[in-house]
Amino acid sequence: MIPQLNAAPNHAKLVAWVNEWAEICQPEAIYWCDGSKEEYDRLCNEMVESGLAIRLNPEKRPNSLLFRSDPSDVARVEARTYIASEKKEDAGPTNNWIDPTELKKTMLELYKGCMHGRIMYVIPFSMGPVGSPIAKIGVEITDSAYVVVNMHIMTRVGTKVLEVLGADGEFVPCMHSVGKPLEAGESDNGIWPCAPLDKKYISHFPETREIWSYGSGYGGNALLGKKCLALRIATVQAHDEGWLAEHMLILKLTREADNKVKYVTGAFPSACGKTNLAMLVPTIPGWKVETIGDDISWMKFNEKDGMLHAINPEAGFFGVAPGTSMQSNPNAMLSCAKDTIFTNVALTDDGDVWWEGIGYDAPAHLIDWKGNDWTPDMKDADGKPVKAAHPNARFTARACNCPAIADNWEDPEGVPVSAFLFGGRRPSTLPVVYQSMSWEHGVFIGSTVGSEVTAAALDVKAGTVRRDPFAMLPFCGYNMGDYFQHWLNIGKKEGANLPKIFCVNWFRKTPEGKWLWPGYGDNSRILKWVFERCDGEGAAQETAIGYLPTIDAIDRTGTDVTEEDMQMLLTVDKAGWMTELETISEHFKKFDRLPAELEAQRQALAERLAK
Ligand code: GTP
Ligand code: SPV
Ligand code: MN
Repeated sequence: MIPQLNAAPNHAKLVAWVNEWAEICQPEAIYWCDGSKEEYDRLCNEMVESGLAIRLNPEKRPNSLLFRSDPSDVARVEARTYIASEKKEDAGPTNNWIDPTELKKTMLELYKGCMHGRIMYVIPFSMGPVGSPIAKIGVEITDSAYVVVNMHIMTRVGTKVLEVLGADGEFVPCMHSVGKPLEAGESDNGIWPCAPLDKKYISHFPETREIWSYGSGYGGNALLGKKCLALRIATVQAHDEGWLAEHMLILKLTREADNKVKYVTGAFPSACGKTNLAMLVPTIPGWKVETIGDDISWMKFNEKDGMLHAINPEAGFFGVAPGTSMQSNPNAMLSCAKDTIFTNVALTDDGDVWWEGIGYDAPAHLIDWKGNDWTPDMKDADGKPVKAAHPNARFTARACNCPAIADNWEDPEGVPVSAFLFGGRRPSTLPVVYQSMSWEHGVFIGSTVGSEVTAAALDVKAGTVRRDPFAMLPFCGYNMGDYFQHWLNIGKKEGANLPKIFCVNWFRKTPEGKWLWPGYGDNSRILKWVFERCDGEGAAQETAIGYLPTIDAIDRTGTDVTEEDMQMLLTVDKAGWMTELETISEHFKKFDRLPAELEAQRQALAERLAK
């Protein structure tokens, strides 16, 4: 028997599941997390003492820690992420697949004795407000105290969740190990524990709704409530039950003149501006943006108004640090001013953090994300400046510390959504905004989202444009062709009052490689047009690609966007779209279950462009 550090709850199935894993993993002891502040503080202090974490200067960053991960464990690993459905076809062409029996066999070998010398933490957590009818409960087993404290911020954790579970409540079992057993007497010595890449597995068993993760301690690989449960497993449930689980920010947009409110959600690929848009400070007077969520949206039809109502299942932000400044995103900066866990940012000599794009020059000396001395003049082998923070360095901050958080962000009814935005980093062709001509056309736009690849995934080459349908390429738990069909079916729901669908692109560049659109707070100018279009207002012209704003429909007073820039941002670049059609055609060929409607949409677009 593995010793227990505290009492197990009165839930036979849960206790049996935990004991079964304890026998396999052989931890030193089992600890049931209660979610208390005392627990959080104790684990933080233990990690500071062991050298895994650095406590930041409490005058500069109260109650905050810095972690440096292993340089091989800095982002999601898409090539090691699996959808292990019974049949390969059900995982589809965009997911990695291994037969579930075979995968479980392989992973069980790895899990055997993997927690030697470590504590097995059991984290009961709720995605969504505790006890709300839309919330889902998961229980994560982990041997990482870093995971526990991050889960404290990102989800609702502990005793209150066990109370809702009662004696026989349902939970999604989430198994996690960093995959680094300790020999007797050995300790981590302040080194981030993880397994080598070829031993990492982030596995999902959609039919049995189980998650098994091994070998990584970082972000979406290890905080299993986020991408694994709230997206990959939830998409399967959403498909079966007729709702949507999406990689979307949720914002509340108020026109102050008449206090009219609309809710907008937006799907942009990883590190493409969801957090920024969700917390935006408008540069146009008379408009207010408040945050509901910055990464995930669960949406269900509301019986009364027929609208899709969105909830943010998370309780915190796991935000990209580099590029975040008081200029680009003051609300994110204020969210991480205290009570924050930083991972892979640089450390200043006075115990504060620094990263590229923080809005002020680096001091003369830093400790970089690898723990090395760093000075501003340092160059790598190619003569490029050495980065002090990793490009995918992140802050884990509480939603309640965000000054822009909407007062109704935890409403269990969810908020009624008026508009969906789809976007990515597209240096050419795609206008700054346009509106779809129909739901089906909107689904086509979603299915063709593309973006220059960012640093959010470890094993995809940054810089090239890849198709990332609905920003869900790494997050859909089943065949993406079926997922497209599910979106089309949502549009056929009787009595539905559907959101309008828009495509946005903040990342258009000039031939010289400069941003053509100022972005950030100025994106409020686009949100204003979206708001107006939802009410049938806002000037637009029908074009081959959809409804484009007329040149003066986007207010650009106070920006240095010229009429010529605006023209470029709002024109149908015919040559560009011809190439686009070809690449969409290539993209669609990958799908074994592409709905005929989407190919019909592509052909209709081709015909309109040919006119
Ligand atoms: P995940 O958390 O990975 O899902 O990503 P996210 O979509 O929340 O990414 P985030 O908002 O943190 O994106 C950050 C990156 O996008 C930073 O490099 C920002 O500088 C850049 N960014 C965000 N908004 C804009 C914008 O309007 N214009 C430009 N040019 N860059 C932007
Ligand atoms: C993303 O990559 O889209 C993220 C970060 O939101 S992680 O949680 O690590 O997946
Ligand atoms: Mn994300």
